[in-house]
Amino acid sequence: MRVHALYFSATLTTKRVVEAIASATASALSVTSFDTHDVTTPSAREKRLEFSADDIVIFGTPVYIGRVPNLIKPYLETICGGGATGIPVVVYGNRHFDDALVELYDLMTNGGFRCIAGAAFIGEHSFSRKLGEGRPDAADMEVASEFGEKIAQIVRNSAGVSPQRPDIPGSRPYRFFKAVDDEGKPFDIRKVKPVTDSGKCNKCGVCVRICPMGAIDPQDQSLVPGICIKCGACVKRCPTGAKSFADTEYLRHLAILERDHISRKEPVLFF
Ligand SMILES: Cc1cc2nc3c(=O)[nH]c(=O)nc-3n(C[C@H](O)[C@H](O)[C@H](O)COP(=O)(O)O)c2cc1C
Ligand code: SF4
Ligand code: SF4
Repeated sequence: MRVHALYFSATLTTKRVVEAIASATASALSVTSFDTHDVTTPSAREKRLEFSADDIVIFGTPVYIGRVPNLIKPYLETICGGGATGIPVVVYGNRHFDDALVELYDLMTNGGFRCIAGAAFIGEHSFSRKLGEGRPDAADMEVASEFGEKIAQIVRNSAGVSPQRPDIPGSRPYRFFKAVDDEGKPFDIRKVKPVTDSGKCNKCGVCVRICPMGAIDPQDQSLVPGICIKCGACVKRCPTGAKSFADTEYLRHLAILERDHISRKEPVLFF
């Protein structure tokens, strides 16, 4: 039996949650370690993944506008579940996970995984330092460990019998979350890109390497010729704090999110 942590994670909150779950699952099953598959960058998504009935795969994605991120779906459809035990996990920025978990559950089930449980955790919002600040924190990690132990228990108890279908919330057809201002006007931030403070940028190239869209110019890191999905990786992980979003529409959207969704949410587990 092998345990796998598979994730897309631009600002690393999903990675931390998925690895904590995988680690606890592995140790509860007395498996020495777990395998990691970080599919965040375009080059990582060139590798074809195939699993078999002997594998347990914890698959985590962030919630983007209430759904599984669009960019990961074509890749997800290439993964062969092969009857592996699947655990869909979504991580959201303290607003809501909406239909993302049921969508991930369906994508995994259609891809040949036997999903026996699922979970929604909270991570600091990609746009913000205040929404879900510092999440996942120690309390979240505790829940992630307990979840891993429960997964191991279900796997042990269900050897040779059909697995249970977890009771995952969400609606089909899946809906996108529509962000609107106080007058009900939708925010449109599709064309927004980060700006770079050239006085702070030391040209280290970190942002180029971590951008999930490969959108940043390797020769001039202040330019973003490709499509930006506002994942926050270059802003939050730039070692000198040189990148930010300065667009007024983006900042208005952020202010409303921080006003309306600041109260703490807790992780939820589904069996
Ligand atoms: C484009 C975009 C849309 C998002 N939409 C939502 C959302 O609908 N609900 C929510 O609570 N958080 C939302 N978030 C926040 C992320 O789900 C959250 O910060 C998550 O922890 C990021 O995961 P990562 O650190 O693995 O990248 C969104 C983030 C981005 C970049
Ligand atoms: S990560 Fe920051 S400092 Fe490094 S090249 Fe990108 S913007 Fe410049
Ligand atoms: S340029 Fe856009 S897509 Fe690329 S890392 Fe920055 S925020 Fe994410």
